[in-house]
Amino acid sequence: MRTFDFVYTQPDQLPDDYREQLWKFLSIQTCIEGGMADATGITAEGINTYPMPAAKHRHFMAFKMADEADHAYGLFQLSKDIGKDPHQLLHQVRVGEIKDRALDAFTQLDWNSSHLRFEVFAMLTEAAGGIASTSAMGSTYVPWAMWNARNFIDEGLTHSVLSMHNVRDLVESGHREEAQALMDEMYPFALDLFGAANTKNEAAYLEFGIKTMTNTECRVIWMRQMRERIAITGLNFPSDPYQGARGRYDECREGLESNWGAVRSDHAA
Ligand SMILES: [Fe+2]
Ligand SMILES: [Fe+2]
Repeated sequence: MRTFDFVYTQPDQLPDDYREQLWKFLSIQTCIEGGMADATGITAEGINTYPMPAAKHRHFMAFKMADEADHAYGLFQLSKDIGKDPHQLLHQVRVGEIKDRALDAFTQLDWNSSHLRFEVFAMLTEAAGGIASTSAMGSTYVPWAMWNARNFIDEGLTHSVLSMHNVRDLVESGHREEAQALMDEMYPFALDLFGAANTKNEAAYLEFGIKTMTNTECRVIWMRQMRERIAITGLNFPSDPYQGARGRYDECREGLESNWGAVRSDHAA
């Protein structure tokens, strides 16, 4: 992780170009947290109607939704602090005026019509959210770093791990084939979530210290983590793990194949 010799503790200390770059990140993150909260039932438009198999799944969902609401409120506050209006953004996204903030995984996958679909999706994408947050925990803007520390614990160590256990339960109770098909379908979209390698935006995030790791560094950590967690569920890791829905990520090969220690940050097994 990159480190920096400057830090901002208050929003009014941020240079204008830093604010604009931070808003790019916040606006995408707000659409994820806001969209997740909407689609899983936290608002009146909630569409989470698939049958949850047991009370423990309803408990998990209730507790997760409370976390997602906290994440969204935290982002709203961060946005307002830098003079941006997250409510207007979410409105514009919902009515279709803005189309480029929602990530493919959320718009192109059917991830919420069955329990198994939801759990496979959450296992993959919430882990990605957690890894992305590790990259911003050392941010030069302290309130943003703090939000990410909380988000890493929730997404990276809790939501995604509980979903991993739920996927394992489903695999062990006779849904292996269906679960493997969903894993194969959704993995490439989750792989895309970190963004392309070496983009202008990535360079700006790193220069300002909004993030501390490149998209490739984040993607490699996630792939290593998924390789371990997918094995725990009893499913197979993709035979070509570098193929995303949008393109290939062969630059991750060295990181995935090199002989690091395991990514056991989750006490998963
Ligand atoms: Fe969240
Ligand atoms: Fe989550």
